[in-house]
Amino acid sequence: MSTDGQRGRANGQEEGAPQRSDERRAERVDDRAERLVAAGFVLSIVGAVALAVIYVLGGQAQWEGVTLALALGGIGLAIAVWARYFMPADEVVEDRHALASTEEEVAAFTTAFEAGEQTLARRGLLAKLGLGALGALGLAALFPIRSLGPRPGRGLKVTAFGGAGRPLRLVDVEERPIRPADLSGTSLLTAWPEGHVHDADAPTLLLQIDPEAFRPLPGREGWVVGDVVAYSKLCTHTGCPVGLYQTDLDLLLCPCHQSTFDVLDGAKPVFGPAARPLPQLPLGVDEEGFLIATGDFSGPVGGGFWDRGRS
Ligand code: FES
Repeated sequence: MSTDGQRGRANGQEEGAPQRSDERRAERVDDRAERLVAAGFVLSIVGAVALAVIYVLGGQAQWEGVTLALALGGIGLAIAVWARYFMPADEVVEDRHALASTEEEVAAFTTAFEAGEQTLARRGLLAKLGLGALGALGLAALFPIRSLGPRPGRGLKVTAFGGAGRPLRLVDVEERPIRPADLSGTSLLTAWPEGHVHDADAPTLLLQIDPEAFRPLPGREGWVVGDVVAYSKLCTHTGCPVGLYQTDLDLLLCPCHQSTFDVLDGAKPVFGPAARPLPQLPLGVDEEGFLIATGDFSGPVGGGFWDRGRS
């Protein structure tokens, strides 16, 4: 026959057993979640380092994509698990008038904060791993800066005509030198510097003009040979090839946005969005009668760029 005290102890043991089992289960879940957060950060670090290594070794688009996905996905996984298991999930509504916390509320917050601190036992380690993952990803993100390539230097301002250090012949696409007489019956030819027919900044328009009507700009009186004048073929708007020559009006038209240039007046723009004249090339002839450029274009060719005006 049992006493009331013996029955109370037995009930207490029955109630305590499931409680301890719930606590152990919760600890196991927390432990697994912590490992998952750490695994996410480690995965991200590995992905970011691998991305940097692949990039330095020459790059491979597919593997760079995979490693970038690992680097970002690892951080995403870690943050999601952290938020799911270690951040308060309950919605809290507070009336506006309550500005200062009561002593009970402060005590309750302190208890909850300390409880949370105990739940996330490896907070320091996970925080370091998180910082490591973000740092590694940030480092990998710096590498594409190297892909911007070398500085252009004076490459945008000097063509082969000016960079050769000597007068260059003008040649056609077959690399044949051109004489002024070759324009008879055609009125327009595209030419390049000899040895540079593939230079994107060097295509030059040779145009036949009426020397009587031509108005050379000051200082360019000797830049034409007979009835032949030369301008850059690259439109000063955004660099399209200017290839339409309206001979009856002596106008050059760019087919992209209809900029129009006056051939007789230094190829100044008279219509359309281009704001600068086509750069002119100073012409001469060599001892064999072939056309040569006696210098570079009168200005940078093609569309504008950030320091076009600086020498
Ligand atoms: S590129 Fe020639 S008008 Fe725009």
